[in-house]
Amino acid sequence: MPATESTPSVQVFDDAEQVAREAAGLFVRLSIEAISARGSFSVALSGGTTPRRVYELLASDDYRTQVTWANVHVFFGDERTVAPDHPDSNYRMANEALLSLVPIPAKNVHRIDGVGDAAANASQYESELREFFGDAAWPRLDLVMLGMGDDGHTASLFPGTTALAEERAWVVANWVEKFQTWRITLTAPAINAARRVLFLITGAGKAERLREVLRGERDPSRLPSQLIRPRDGTLEWFVDRAAAEKL
Ligand code: 6PG
Repeated sequence: MPATESTPSVQVFDDAEQVAREAAGLFVRLSIEAISARGSFSVALSGGTTPRRVYELLASDDYRTQVTWANVHVFFGDERTVAPDHPDSNYRMANEALLSLVPIPAKNVHRIDGVGDAAANASQYESELREFFGDAAWPRLDLVMLGMGDDGHTASLFPGTTALAEERAWVVANWVEKFQTWRITLTAPAINAARRVLFLITGAGKAERLREVLRGERDPSRLPSQLIRPRDGTLEWFVDRAAAEKL
């Protein structure tokens, strides 16, 4: 592995609740460090079910009061092509569990539009990121939170899809044949530009795929989570004991 790529750290915790607590604690610590070093904390949230508990904890008294929300900028790793109040919307989940419950300025919440033309919305979202990150070649997010599906996908980088080969765009629309739908997703090189990337993996149903991704042959077109290798950043996996069973 080239020296610029970090070796992933895998931390195993007792259960999903402990994973969520550790992730919420890390979010708080990174926000304090980033705000003190650079004046703001930029984070891309993930969708799916696993992070919901993290968001709930961050909204609870213990954690909420430790974060300077006025200096936090929330982005999203991916979005489904639905309205923001649709049950499948990643924004809706994050908004219900976290964003509507903390004093974050509306202008600091950078939502991916899921309604209308997916390619246009992807390019609009890339423009929003570019505006925030100035003339940087890639978005230097302080933290990207990710989950992994049981097919090995992460964000909306699904096995065998065209987005996996993207080398220039920060955000693309990605056709997902098995769901017959478009998704909008950060690309692997955009995720890999982050300072820190954190996967949250829980449950026995993910154990075999996690083993393949972390310990198996490199085959990113089948296991897109293997594309995630921050170029100049840290990659961490927070895993519960059930998901870690086959490592
Ligand atoms: C999404 C996600 C996706 C998710 C995984 C894991 O929009 O669906 O961002 O990549 O993180 O599918 O989802 P679970 O946490 O529900 O297992």
